Amino acid sequence: MSLLIRNARILTLATGDRPRRGKELGNLGVIPAGEVLVADGKIVAVGPKLEAPPADAEVIDAQGRVLLPGFVDCHTHACWAGDRLNEWEQRLRGVPYLEILKSGGGIHATVNAVREATKKQLAAGLKTRLDAMLRDGTTTVEIKSGYGLETEAELKMLRAIVRAGHEWPGTIVPTALLGHAFEGELEDYARMVVKDMLPAVSKEFPDITVDAFCEDGAWTLAACVRLFEKAAKHHPLRVHADQFNSLGMVPEAIRLHARSVDHLEASTKADLLALAQSLTMGVILPCTGFHVDRRYARAGMFVAHGGAVALATNCNPGTSPSHSMPFALALAARFCGLTPAEAIAAATVNGAAVLGLRDRGTIAPGQRADLLLLHYKDERQLAYELGGNPVATVICGGQLIR
Ligand code: NIG
Repeated sequence: MSLLIRNARILTLATGDRPRRGKELGNLGVIPAGEVLVADGKIVAVGPKLEAPPADAEVIDAQGRVLLPGFVDCHTHACWAGDRLNEWEQRLRGVPYLEILKSGGGIHATVNAVREATKKQLAAGLKTRLDAMLRDGTTTVEIKSGYGLETEAELKMLRAIVRAGHEWPGTIVPTALLGHAFEGELEDYARMVVKDMLPAVSKEFPDITVDAFCEDGAWTLAACVRLFEKAAKHHPLRVHADQFNSLGMVPEAIRLHARSVDHLEASTKADLLALAQSLTMGVILPCTGFHVDRRYARAGMFVAHGGAVALATNCNPGTSPSHSMPFALALAARFCGLTPAEAIAAATVNGAAVLGLRDRGTIAPGQRADLLLLHYKDERQLAYELGGNPVATVICGGQLIR
C-alpha cells in the first residue's frame, strides 16, 4: 500500500553535503507546494506535482502545512531506572552537579537503580520514553549505556536498548558509554574497562560506537585517550567534553577522528574554531543548560566558522529530563545562536550524520520514509512554540503512526 502526501510545504533538506556545515546549514531545500509518494517504507518520489501516482494510494492532504524528515535524536541516555528528584532539589538550593557526583550521588544514584532494576522494569521505563519521543516526532534515537559501570550491567543495558528497538516502530542506535563515571580509583577502573569491558562489548556489539565523559570528577583526559586509542581499532568514537570544564579533549577528539564532540558549553574559542575546521561534528544539548546551569554551547559562532553541528535532547534523569526535540529546537534558537532553519537541519540530516546513517534525514527518493507533518504552515513555529507539540502526524518507516 502506498501513501501520497499532497499539498505540503516540503523541507527536503536534500541539497548539499552530509553533514551540512557553515552557511549551508540553513538551506532547507524547500518545495513550497509539493507531493511525496511513499511505498514499502521508503520515499519513492518527491516534487511539485508527481506524474501518475498510484490510483489506490492512501492520500493525506497537508493543506499547505509543513512536511519535514523525522527528528534524529543523536544523543540520549534514555535507558534508566529510578529518579533523581532529591538531587534536583539539592541543585535548586545551589549544590553543583559535579559536587553531587563527587560525593557518590548523581550518575551513581542512577547506576544503583539500574543495577537493581529487573530487565522488565528497565524495558518498561524505556518504552514509555520511546513512545513519548515518537509522538513528538523522533523517529531515530541514539541511546547510551553508561549506568552499569560493571561489565555485566553495561551488557544488560545494551541488550535492553537493542531489544527495545525490536518493538518500536522507529530506529534505535545503541552506544557503549564505557567511560561515564568510575568506582574505586580511576586508574584501576579505567584499566579494567580497557582490559575486560571493552573486549566483552566488542565481542557482542562489534560495530558499536564507544563514548566517554571527559570531566573533572569523571574520566580524565589521559584515561579517555587510553580508552579511545584502544577502541578506535574497531569502533567509531564519540565523547562528552567541555560540559563544565575545558580539559583539552577537543584537540584529542579531532586527532582521534571522533565522530562527534558533545556538550561544548565550556569550550574555548580556539577549540571551537579547530573543531569547526575538522571532520569531527559538534553536538549541542541545550536542554541540559536549561535544566542545570543556564550555560549553552556557542553554536552560532561554531557554524559561522564552518562547523557541522547536530542538536539532541540528551534525555537523562540527571541533566535533561526531556525527550522533546521541539523543545531542544526552541532552546537552540533562543540560547545557542542557531536560526530556526539551522536548528531544523541540526535535528535531522546532521543528527543522522553523527550516527553514520545516510538513509534518512532528508526527503528524497530512496530515503527511509520517516516524515513529520506539522500543525503549521511555517516551519519557524517548530522553534517558536514552547512546551507544546507542533507535530500533527508521524510517518515512521512508511507507517502512519498518528
Ligand atoms: O550528558 N554528563 C554526563 N552524562 C550526562 C548526564 C548523566 C547523568 O547525570 O545521569 C550528560 O549530561
